[in-house]
Formats: sequence, structure tokens, C-alpha cells
Amino acid sequence: MISIKSAREIELMREAGRLASRTLDMIADYIKPGVSTEELNQLCHEFIVSHDAYPAPLNYKGFPKSICSSINEVICHGIPSKKDILKEGDIINIDVTALKNGFHGDTNRTYYVGEVSPEVRALVEFTREVTHKAISIVKPGIRVGDIGHLIQTEAEARGYGVVREFTGHGLGRQFHEAPSIPHYGRPGTGPKLRKGMTFTIEPMINLGTPDLHVLSDGWTAITDDGKWSAQFEHSIAVTDNGHEILTLSN
Ligand code: MF3
Ligand code: CO
Ligand code: CO
Repeated sequence: MISIKSAREIELMREAGRLASRTLDMIADYIKPGVSTEELNQLCHEFIVSHDAYPAPLNYKGFPKSICSSINEVICHGIPSKKDILKEGDIINIDVTALKNGFHGDTNRTYYVGEVSPEVRALVEFTREVTHKAISIVKPGIRVGDIGHLIQTEAEARGYGVVREFTGHGLGRQFHEAPSIPHYGRPGTGPKLRKGMTFTIEPMINLGTPDLHVLSDGWTAITDDGKWSAQFEHSIAVTDNGHEILTLSN
């Protein structure tokens, strides 16, 4: 069942979403060579709890940290660690989910660590742009498959791989609720969008193969060919005749 949120519930989701995006704004200044992902985790954790919210990844299905931090060939669900130190030329995705007043806000960005190669920069900029292009078509009456079709078509035209094992998702009182929002698919298929639905769009786009494996920690998802992967995520509400991005930054 896909839950429909009232105007008041969307107001609360806007608050949770704004806090998550402000956390990503805050952490940007700390992303530099020499910093560990554990330090980034601590900073985000303190920021979120100091704003009367809870970092939803912490203890979610056993996840041990407050954010996901995914470097280079790590696609998603990287676990912050003192041993993971950023170096010049890396890319890192930070994924923040804030639970505030009973509702979730879920957003992520891929950041550059100093200067990155032109090939990687093109991947990251493409991923940012295709995320916004997919968001731009969201309105009542379109279908979930229309979103995935747009992302898959644009990515594969450039020779990029689209990850299938992880998708966008409904979001609200639950961290992950119906519907699933695949980043691939066929137009005119899947559930129809209605006003009051809230979900994420969060494509993971790879320089090479879309295929992945999960490390023995049970979380860290890595490209099979070791090529790098980028991701951006926003939480979206369907409105009367379009959409609202709940996780915009300043
Ligand atoms: N924030 C991720 C998402 O976008 C989910 C992370 S689950 C965790 O859906 F357990 F790894 F935190
Ligand atoms: Co999400
Ligand atoms: Co997320």
C-alpha cells in the first residue's frame, strides 16, 4: 500500500528533509584529504541530534553508524571507519537520513576530494543532472516506470551502468515504504503517481558495469569491475500539478 500524506504530514516531512539537506551543506566544508569517514560520521551525528532528530541509519537493520559514506568504487552503504581516510582525487557520497517528528528526510550527494579526473567529474555531473531531470517529470498521473526509463535511457546512451539492486523508495513514517522506484524501466508501467505520495529518487550510476557485490560486512556495495560510481538523492512529494523537492539546500 502506498501511503498518501496530508498537507500537515508533508509539512513535517519538509522539516525532516530540510534538516537532512542542511547536514549535507554542513559536512561539505570538512571533505578534504586526510579526514576519516568516522570523523564525518561524528560531525553529522552531532548536527542531527542537536536539531532534535535521530540519524535513521544508526541501528537500522543492524547498520552500525549514523551516515553512509561511500568512496570511489563503493556504490552505496559504505560504513564510516577511522581506517577510511580521504585522499586527493577521490569522490565520496554522504547519505543522510534524519528522523524528526516521526517522519524521515533522506538525501545524499557525491562530493569531490580536491581535483578529480575529467572522466570521474563527467560521471558525477551527469548523475547530478539526471537526478534533477527525473525529478522534473514527477506529477500526478505519470507512472513509476517513466522515472526509471528516463534515467536508464540517458545513462546508457553515455555508456554508463545503472545499478538495479538498490532503488528509490517511498518514505514517510517508515524509512523504506512502498513503492519501490527503480532507476531503470519501461514507460507507462508501474504504479501511477498521486498527490500526497512521498518518495526518493536516488540513481547510482557507474563508469562501467552495473553489477555489484556486497562485502562480508553485509553492507558495503562495490562495483564488480572496480570502476567508480556516483549517486545523488532527494526526497520528493507529489503535489496538485507537479512536485516539491523536500531536501533542497540553500
Ligand atoms: N539512506 C539509504 C537510502 O537512501 C539507506 C541506508 S540504509 C542503512 O535508502 F542502513 F545503510 F543506513
Ligand atoms: Co533513500
Ligand atoms: Co539515502
